[in-house]
Amino acid sequence: MRAVLTDRPGGPENLRIVDVPTPLPGPMEVLVQVRATALNRADTLQRKGKYDPPEGVTKVPGLEAAGVVTDLGSDVRRWRRGDRVFGLLAGGAHAEYAVFHRDLLLPIPDRLSFVEAAAIPEVFLTAFQALVLIGHIARDEIVLIHAGGSGVGTAAIQIARVYGASPIVTASAGKHEACRSLGAVLAIDYKSQDFAEEVMSFTGGTGANVILDFIGAPYLEANVRASAVDGRVVLLALMGGATVDSLGIGSLFRKRLTITASTLRNRPLPYKIDLVSRFADSLMAMIASRKIAPVIDTVTSWENIVDAHRRMEANLNTGKIVLKVA
Ligand SMILES: NC(=O)c1ccc[n+]([C@@H]2O[C@H](COP(=O)([O-])OP(=O)(O)OC[C@H]3O[C@@H](n4cnc5c(N)ncnc54)[C@H](OP(=O)(O)O)[C@@H]3O)[C@@H](O)[C@H]2O)c1
Repeated sequence: MRAVLTDRPGGPENLRIVDVPTPLPGPMEVLVQVRATALNRADTLQRKGKYDPPEGVTKVPGLEAAGVVTDLGSDVRRWRRGDRVFGLLAGGAHAEYAVFHRDLLLPIPDRLSFVEAAAIPEVFLTAFQALVLIGHIARDEIVLIHAGGSGVGTAAIQIARVYGASPIVTASAGKHEACRSLGAVLAIDYKSQDFAEEVMSFTGGTGANVILDFIGAPYLEANVRASAVDGRVVLLALMGGATVDSLGIGSLFRKRLTITASTLRNRPLPYKIDLVSRFADSLMAMIASRKIAPVIDTVTSWENIVDAHRRMEANLNTGKIVLKVA
């Protein structure tokens, strides 16, 4: 089969589509012919040599795909050849075939295309995990979602609304309209506004109950200022940096804050299986009826993988960049 690989860490120009052996499904695995996959920041970091796949996982990038079942391991009863499926991977999705654990796959609802299904797993599972399982969002709470126009951000806005919370986003100004149309009650231009002041002013001094952060060090102090009492700050990435020069921690006590960091790719398999199952129980009916939907920025052939990486790294996408494989 053909798959994306890099010959050495570096820029997008190092990406190649090359011939590699087609993976074989183990007893509890399913071989899927990939029809569409999608790009994530993790793929750009992996390309640069800054985010290696977990041990034992293929070096072929790609964390999600949608396609057709073509082969089954000996312990797989739930799926049949020809089933339309989509799901989460720790790597290997940017290829013509990918091997999934049988319990990390979901059936594609009738009304969804392969392209739409491929845009769901990584960002919706991340947003669901962060907001619901870790952040414990509740009805009528305020949720501050940084990078609101990102793949994860656009999923998080919709999930926050489903749970009856009010999402506030930060994003560059060109992405505000898209965030509002998904349900954001306030969009803050982080480049020209102090987001903590804006959140405090909008909430009458109460602050945000849950904060989803991808920026890291430069936002920590303002996240603390923007938090409500008993607030939960969930750190998911460090796009702005990892080292905080100084932080007075008195306000953590005054606000009884919880600050937590989370990952998805390197979680143990049983955790991921439980996450996928809870996600399916909670949100798949709404995805099937299109009450919530992935925001798709671009659909392009996977042959354009170099341009896709460039677009994401230039922060040009609002929502997902989907790669059609077959
Ligand atoms: N921990 C986990 O479990 C987990 C799982 C999945 C993803 N992630 C992380 O979540 C983040 C979002 O992923 P994605 O694939 O959804 O990203 P994406 O679609 O590429 O969007 C990222 C957006 O973040 C904004 N941004 C980038 N650098 C920034 C900075 N220094 N300050 C402020 N805003 C900045 C840009 O939007 P603007 O135009 O608004 O600037 C950019 O378009 C990534 O960092 C990814 O690694 C974490």
